[in-house]
Amino acid sequence: MVSVSDFAGRDVITVNEFRRDEIVFLLDAAAQFEQVTGTLLAGRVIATLFFEPSTRTRLSFESAVGRLGGSCVGFAEAGVSSQAKGESLADTVRVVEGYSDLLLLRHPLEGAARLAAEVAQIPVVNCGDGAHQHPTQTFVDLYTMQRECGRIDGLHVVFAGDLRYGRAVHSLVSVLTLFNARITLVSPQFLRLPEEQRRTLETLGVEYREMESLEASLPEADVLYMTRVQRERFTDPTEYDKFKDAYTLDMSVLQNARDSLAILHPLPRVQEIAREVDVHPHAAYFRQAHYGVAVRKALMALILGHADKVLA
Ligand code: CP
Repeated sequence: MVSVSDFAGRDVITVNEFRRDEIVFLLDAAAQFEQVTGTLLAGRVIATLFFEPSTRTRLSFESAVGRLGGSCVGFAEAGVSSQAKGESLADTVRVVEGYSDLLLLRHPLEGAARLAAEVAQIPVVNCGDGAHQHPTQTFVDLYTMQRECGRIDGLHVVFAGDLRYGRAVHSLVSVLTLFNARITLVSPQFLRLPEEQRRTLETLGVEYREMESLEASLPEADVLYMTRVQRERFTDPTEYDKFKDAYTLDMSVLQNARDSLAILHPLPRVQEIAREVDVHPHAAYFRQAHYGVAVRKALMALILGHADKVLA
């Protein structure tokens, strides 16, 4: 039986640290937090240490803090922090933990959030570490599936695009194994899901298939999770140029899909979803970005030990 105390003071570094019942508890909490505003986090200070660009993750966290009466300190790029003078991540964390109650970290290096959690005496939430994981994005994605499809269990989810470098994909694929999802992976060979993750799926006996054709993947899908080709992770720009236009979802491609197909994307998008798709009734990606506030309100309230004032 999960309770609010299971989340108090907890780090969020990867999705794999969460059991299915804990994730379900968090998603239920997010639903109850949707309309909540007030002073629940009054006097609490949240630090946003973003060493990589972000719009949704940082601003939805900041919006969530503001709606609950807390305040934020932090920076939105490495260049304006003392990292530019040579300060280590560990030292930055040691300093900022004295200014705040919760540390939100985005960093280009895989493992940075784990390192910060080992150093910090306050909870750390991984807001994306390199191509590794993006756990709060996954909670938002699951919440979106629940809201848009009415369930998560047993959904057939098609992932399309950059499955090699996309950290949102890595987290979500990993956690969908807890929800008996069927998984289809659509990518060029070069952008396949990393071997380690494919092996994990096989070890867990998860039903999955790989294809290169987006059109052919769609007829049986419940959810399409489109992704951007992650230019910032390529060491060779000519490789990026080769794959940047690998897929474009437009209305003609959607003719192969069920009318009820839910279209998700962690955003930002570049060209992989045509603007004409935005008016599709099940184009959920902007709603998905907005659900981030409710999910992050619930998560922070739980970690900081204030959620019992809201949860029935
Ligand atoms: N989905 C996501 O992580 O978006 P940002 O990079 O804008 O935070």
